[in-house]
Order: sequence, then C-alpha cells, then structure tokens
Amino acid sequence: MRRLFCVLTVFFLFLASLGFSAEKSSAVKSLHIQTNYVDIYKDISNGYVGNWQKYGQTFENLQKNYFKTIYLSILVAIPLIFILHYLLIGPKKFSHEGKKILIFTVLNRIIHWTAALSFLTLVITGLIMVFGKYFGGGSFVRFFRYLHFPAAVVFTPFGFFMFLMWLKDMIFAPGDITWFLKFGGYLSRKNENIMPVGKFNPGQKSWFWLATLGGFVMAYTGYYMYSFSDFTDNLRIYAMIHNILGMALLVMFLVHLYMSLFAIKGSLNSMLTGFKSEDEIRVMHCRFYKKISGKDCVN
Ligand code: HEM
Ligand code: HEM
Repeated sequence: MRRLFCVLTVFFLFLASLGFSAEKSSAVKSLHIQTNYVDIYKDISNGYVGNWQKYGQTFENLQKNYFKTIYLSILVAIPLIFILHYLLIGPKKFSHEGKKILIFTVLNRIIHWTAALSFLTLVITGLIMVFGKYFGGGSFVRFFRYLHFPAAVVFTPFGFFMFLMWLKDMIFAPGDITWFLKFGGYLSRKNENIMPVGKFNPGQKSWFWLATLGGFVMAYTGYYMYSFSDFTDNLRIYAMIHNILGMALLVMFLVHLYMSLFAIKGSLNSMLTGFKSEDEIRVMHCRFYKKISGKDCVN
C-alpha cells in the first residue's frame, strides 16, 4: 500500500512537472535513470523550489532587511522635501482671469482618472502588503492583497490607453536638457522662468514613461507572482523587480501628486475641467504656446 502511494505520488509530481519548462524537464528526464524514490523526489522538488542558494538568500535578505526600510524612507523623505520646498520657495501662481485653453479632452480625462484611481489603489494596497506585519497581518492585509489584483486588471489596459494617447507628445526633445539642468525653474521663486517647453515638460515626460512602461513591467511581474506559473527562482526575481520598480514608481507618483496638487496653484483644475490658463501655458509651455497662438512668450 505504502509502495503504491509512493509510486502514485511520484507519478503525479511527474505529470505536474511536465507543464513547466527546461530546467524542470531536466529533473524529469533523470527519472528514467534513478531508482531511489527519495532522489527522484528531491530532483523533482528542486525543479519547483529552485536553488535556495542562488536567489533565495538574497531575496530573503532584501525582503526582510531592506525593502521595508527603503519604502519607509521614501514615504518620510519625499513629503519632507516637498514641505520644505513649499515653505521656502512656494507654489507657482498664474492668473486664471484671462483666456483659457483646452488641453485635456473628455477622453483624456476619463483615461487619466481611471488609470490614476486604480494606480492609487495599487500603491496603497501594495504598501499595506509591504508593511503587512505592522498592520497585524491576517484578514486585514489579505483583504488589501485581494484588492491589489483587480486594481492591476483595471490599471493595465488604461495605462496602455494612456500610453497610446500621449505617446506623440511625450517624446523627449533636444531642448529638454535645459529644463533638467534648471530643475524646471522650480528652485526659483520667480514665476516668469520661461524655457523652451512643449505641451509637456521633461519632468512630466519622465513620469509618463515610468508610469506606462514601468506599469507594464509591474503587471507582467505581478501576473507571475499571482499565477505562480514559473520557477521559484524566477518568481523571486519578479518579486525583486516588482519591489524595486515599485520604489521608483512610488517616488515619481509622490512627485506627480505634489506637482499637480501643490506646486502649481490650480493645476488640478486642468485635469478636472480640461482647461489651463493662457498665462500658465505661456510661461510653463512656451514652445507649445508659440505653436498654438503664434505669439511670443515674453509679455
Ligand atoms: C508602489 C506600487 C506597488 C507596490 C508597493 C506593490 C507591491 C506588491 C507586493 C508586495 C506584492 C506581493 C504580494 C504577494 O506576496 O503575493 C504585489 C503583488 C502583485 N502586484 Fe503589486 N505593487 C505595486 C504596484 C503594482 C502595479 C502598478 C501593478 C500592475 C499594473 C501590480 C500588480 C501586482 C499583481 C498582479 C500582484 C499579484 C497579486 C496577488 O498575488 O494576489 N502591482 N505587489
Ligand atoms: C490620484 C492621483 C493623481 C492626481 C491628483 C493627478 C493629477 C494630475 C493633474 C492635475 C494633471 C495635469 C497636470 C498639468 O498638466 O498641469 C495630471 C497629468 C498627468 N497625469 Fe496625473 N494624477 C494622478 C495620478 C496619475 C497616475 C497614477 C498617472 C499614471 C499612471 C498619471 C499620469 C499623468 C500624466 C501622464 C499626466 C500628463 C503629464 C503630467 O502632467 O504629468 N496621473 N495628473
């Protein structure tokens, strides 16, 4: 009876392992030349578990000692920098009295807000998973883990639509380097810091590329973590990529929030109504202003 049980167990493990790729199939091949069941089991289970020494320890070390600390540092340091910026330099203010220009169509705004809200859910639920231990784990954290996946299902197509709709305007131009060198004029209290910027500035472009392409990598790695359909070592690599890229996304997301909610007074309005003031476009997006109005940027 025990022998039959052993044989059946090995048989089912063998069948299951057929569904996996190269490394695992080499474990299965050796089935034919080995007779000791313990060795056979070890070989097959190695196919699933992978080599602990290869990525296991690195992963465990990063997960236990570094990821949480880095996430926490980001959550403390970035808002602190922005509070200092707001107090010492302050937001840019433009007259909203004059002419208004339509920048974001209804479709732009629907796509933006659907991607934005699903992404916000991903960040919050992702962070709750990262700091799960401090939230007491259990059903509370599990609830947010279950929410992370549907949020990813919504974000992925809308991230793709966003990619298509703004791709043309987001390609970097040679003049963009000046903007980076001057930190976009955000370190100056002067409102009139005119630079040759198109419809989107290079900071916005950087966020666009990271959020869309990075978002797809997050969806790809997340999908494998969800479905468990790869070697354990590969899953560890995906989890590492997911966490490290997650950090970059979190930094840029906080920057995006500060820029759109605080750094330019009334900026949020443009994403709600679609309109920006002519004055803001003239100063902050001079190249674009010249193109649509035919006028010079300096008053
Ligand atoms: C700052 C942003 C993010 C953080 C901190 C984060 C964090 C995490 C963590 C810790 C897990 C592991 C859950 C587990 O142990 O199984 C996870 C899983 C996952 N993530 Fe993220 N994530 C973020 C953004 C994203 C984005 C942008 C996407 C997709 C577009 C995404 C898709 C997924 C998916 C599909 C899973 C698997 C869910 C599951 O196993 O139920 N994540 N994420
Ligand atoms: C929920 C939080 C968010 C808020 C409050 C917000 C707000 C805004 C605002 C006000 C603008 C217009 C900025 C301007 O041109 O003056 C904007 C633009 C934009 N947003 Fe968001 N957004 C959020 C989340 C996101 C997310 C998650 C993404 C990407 C996944 C995103 C991608 C973009 C892009 C690519 C633009 C155009 C370029 C730029 O201004 O950066 N936003 N957002």
